Amino acid sequence: MRIKKDNLPTKGDLRKTLHRNLKFNATEQYKLLRTNISFTLPENIKCPIIGVTSSIRGEGKSTTAINLAYVYAESGKRVLLIDGDLRLPSVAKKMKIDGSTGLTNFLLDSNKIEIEKYRTEINEKWYVFPCGPIPPNPSELLASRKMEKLLEMLSEYFDCIIIDLPPVNIVSDAVAISKYLTGMILVVRQNYTEKEEYENCKRQLKLSNVNVLGLVMNGVNNGKSYYSNYKYKRYYKYYASQEYQQNNGDEQ
Ligand SMILES: Nc1ncnc2c1ncn2[C@@H]1O[C@H](COP(=O)(O)OP(=O)(O)OP(=O)(O)O)[C@@H](O)[C@H]1O
Ligand SMILES: [Mg+2]
Repeated sequence: MRIKKDNLPTKGDLRKTLHRNLKFNATEQYKLLRTNISFTLPENIKCPIIGVTSSIRGEGKSTTAINLAYVYAESGKRVLLIDGDLRLPSVAKKMKIDGSTGLTNFLLDSNKIEIEKYRTEINEKWYVFPCGPIPPNPSELLASRKMEKLLEMLSEYFDCIIIDLPPVNIVSDAVAISKYLTGMILVVRQNYTEKEEYENCKRQLKLSNVNVLGLVMNGVNNGKSYYSNYKYKRYYKYYASQEYQQNNGDEQ
């Protein structure tokens, strides 16, 4: 079941879906997501590294990753959001920050990272690494030993790292980096993601032994979704569609 044309998000929706512009209920759902993630993580982990992916394009991965990073920072954690979509990066554009340097530069030379340069003005605990120049070999870079070393180094500095990734059914990048992650969050968008696509994605993640921490239901406009029949080991729901916010939300 594809999303109908008239349900497609408009440009204005982007502004409404990001951190400080969120309505109260949506912010609360992201906080709940943060709490639920903490329950699924091993207790002794110093800096969880969490990937955010989905089955296809446009399900809300980047929106989820940005907002999740925001609520982590708001809770006092030093958080790093990395744009790991090295094919169609969008974090810098969405956040209106300079995207000229970022992850791909640091993978070439990790000594060149001036971490403080990547602190956001939104919250002093929130840092963002844009993608940087688009590389010819995203999958290999994400799976590389350099990536592992970079994440090890960054884990010493941050309390949490969130990586926005491309969709599983389109490219192998998310699976490629998964061996360096504490876990993966899977975003599913109501009235958009087809059942077969979701099943295919789930199968691929299982085959690759990816530790899926949970499922985020994006754009749910009531308490029930057609995915509610699915049995999923650990999952949580995220209700943040504009309609839901309008019906239930107060302004922040
Ligand atoms: N809950 C929501 N309500 C309304 N609009 C939303 C919601 N979540 C995401 N959007 C909008 O949907 C569009 C796609 O979202 P986003 O870029 O986060 O998806 P994505 O999965 O990262 O896409 P891609 O696969 O291209 O990277 C954006 O315009 C975003 O503002
Ligand atoms: Mg994205």
